[in-house]
Amino acid sequence: MPAGSVQNGAEVAERVDTLIGRMTVAEKAGQLTQYFYFGSRPGDVFPGQAAAVEAALGRGEVGSLLLVTDPAEVNRLQRLAVAGSRHGIPVVFGFDVIHGLRTIFPVPIAMAASWDPEAIEQGQAVAAREARAAGIGWAFAPMVDIARDPRWGRIVESAGEDPYLASAVAAAQVRGFQGDGPGSPGRVIAGPKHFAGYGAALGGRDYDEVNLSDSELWNVYLPPFEAAVTAGAGNIMTAYMDLNGIPATGNHWLLTDVLRATWGFDGFVVSDAHAVHNLRTHGFAADLTDAGARAVQAGVDMEMTLGDAAYAHLPEAVAAGLVDEKVLDASVRRVLTAKARMGLLDDPYVDEENARTVLADPAHRAAARTAAQRTAVLLRNQGGLLPLVNPGSIAVIGPLADSRRDTLGPWVFDFDLGETVTVLDGIRNRAGVAVEVGYAPGIRPAHRAFPSMFDMFEGSAPADPPAFDDAAELARAVSLAQASDVAVVVLGEWQNMSGEAASRSSLELPGGQLGLLQAVVATGTPVVLLVMNGRPLDLRWAARNVPAILDIWYPGTQGGTAAADLLFGDVAPGGKLPFSWPRTVGQVPMIYSHTASHDPGHQDRRYWDEASTPLFPFGHGLSYGRFEYRDLILDRHHIQPGQTVIASVTVTNTAERAGDEVAQLYIRQRHGSASRPVRELKGFQRVTLGAGESRTLTFPLGPGALRYWNAAAQDWVIDTTTIEVFAGTDSTAGLTTSFTIGA
Ligand code: NOJ
Repeated sequence: MPAGSVQNGAEVAERVDTLIGRMTVAEKAGQLTQYFYFGSRPGDVFPGQAAAVEAALGRGEVGSLLLVTDPAEVNRLQRLAVAGSRHGIPVVFGFDVIHGLRTIFPVPIAMAASWDPEAIEQGQAVAAREARAAGIGWAFAPMVDIARDPRWGRIVESAGEDPYLASAVAAAQVRGFQGDGPGSPGRVIAGPKHFAGYGAALGGRDYDEVNLSDSELWNVYLPPFEAAVTAGAGNIMTAYMDLNGIPATGNHWLLTDVLRATWGFDGFVVSDAHAVHNLRTHGFAADLTDAGARAVQAGVDMEMTLGDAAYAHLPEAVAAGLVDEKVLDASVRRVLTAKARMGLLDDPYVDEENARTVLADPAHRAAARTAAQRTAVLLRNQGGLLPLVNPGSIAVIGPLADSRRDTLGPWVFDFDLGETVTVLDGIRNRAGVAVEVGYAPGIRPAHRAFPSMFDMFEGSAPADPPAFDDAAELARAVSLAQASDVAVVVLGEWQNMSGEAASRSSLELPGGQLGLLQAVVATGTPVVLLVMNGRPLDLRWAARNVPAILDIWYPGTQGGTAAADLLFGDVAPGGKLPFSWPRTVGQVPMIYSHTASHDPGHQDRRYWDEASTPLFPFGHGLSYGRFEYRDLILDRHHIQPGQTVIASVTVTNTAERAGDEVAQLYIRQRHGSASRPVRELKGFQRVTLGAGESRTLTFPLGPGALRYWNAAAQDWVIDTTTIEVFAGTDSTAGLTTSFTIGA
């Protein structure tokens, strides 16, 4: 069998069943266990665990390891499993390959902001190629949780608030990771997570309980998972929290009835780290034996454990009759089938020399640069300040402008800071000798009130610059701005303020950043604000006082180069917001797809102290072109349920330079057997249009777009109704027409 080839189903099944027939219950339980392996990494929370894991490998009682990314270490550990154990079953190495392994792409929320499924697929294909070359066969990604509350730190890993966009992004990521299937060369198993509802944590507080209505679950939170399953995802990861009172990791309805019976998922399910153990913490399981038995029966095939595994108690649970050994066999079958499909049973080792070549591939850096160009969102561009036209001097201001680590964003572990390009580097490289580029941080970095567990993984917490004179540095930044033609101010959040366990109670710019911005704006020098972030921040002051605002997110390895490409107009921005950008934290959660209620005319004045509209609407983003929409035409104005309407609209770039636009199509159901949102995204296309160029785009509106889950009927329905259709540049699109469904 050649390396990495996909074996046919019957062969795989026979091979797997033969192995299962020879395994003891302890070996089966081990095969269903995934251990963290810190080795020499900092942050080992269980000292001595490495030795325990190595001993378990020799006993054939480990199914998978995570955190190992050094190919030589992969081979060493794999030899313990293959050459050292009774059946020689290899482990599959898994890892959080979230937005790249060595080549770091923009963070997932940024990739979603590209509204470009092809770019998203390519990005994860690069990540997969690097991971596979390093010996990693499985990515704990994509995170497909809908995120509607930006206090929740993991919004950075999501595709934002909308189920339609998030489903397209989820499917693109699965295709990128897996290609034609998890066994394809250079690809890995994708593990969409966290099933399900994790993004709706109470108060935006990570891990806290989630209570979702039936309608929200089916219409909003589950569709991206279904899209990922339909795209062929080989794995699903459970979620930490209680969903409507039942822990997601012990939830038979979710993990078996919905995932397997309704959607036909045939891969394997892994728990989130320690989540089976946590069934006891939830006050759900009596002890670890009960936790293990109930998790595996609910549908968790593999336990991801930080140590003290509940699945180590499965032999006991089988002996006590708490769980049938056949349940374990079914789970082991899924895990071994995944390994067989990966080609691991025949070729468990990795080519260390090839890994070096693949990780250094310049094509990967080029792809990361294109991705960072496509993810930036131009929020404001008063007076056409951008692109910059022949500035003689540029002041680059703000500590984030020159921070390599922060440019990469959270959820990266194997990055190379040496090749990371900051905004300052990018501007310097692009500006050349004719333009004077000065830099002043202006203020010191801000810090979290409580430390981040990820700082520990990196071996150190961010430190203050030595001997930083606050007053002198602020004055230096101000006089630099004064003396320059334009000031590029880079503000946002430090990367450890975003991600897992990084929820916030406020959305303000942390530290002294607003003061710095105000001082620079007061000089009268035109200011471009670059925002580096994983969540929307309170930019009310900036939106009134700063002419140009470009959101570059955490843009990755090539982020600074891409930022310069955009600032100088070598490429035009074209990203769009994947969430409604709130004015202030008191408004959240805020979504564009709300329903209408009493006094809809004052929808914008639900609060007496602040508008109840977003600062920037969902789908918003400008470019260097200017776009007009006309001729929204339907191919028919009446259909029966089950039929499709084709909408078309013509977009024209009326500006004198090329630009990128994401044309968006929304619907509103006027009446029916349930209240439906005032707008729902049902189609989008990103296009590049030259000066004066027009393009007519078509969007099908079929049964999938017109159906919705009706909580009263407990079923998907298509109502007899009128559907209004809107097309335009964002979720406030005004161009409209309508059609009817039914008699
Ligand atoms: C916990 C996180 O919730 C999950 O997303 C991640 O994949 C695992 N830890 C492993 O790092």
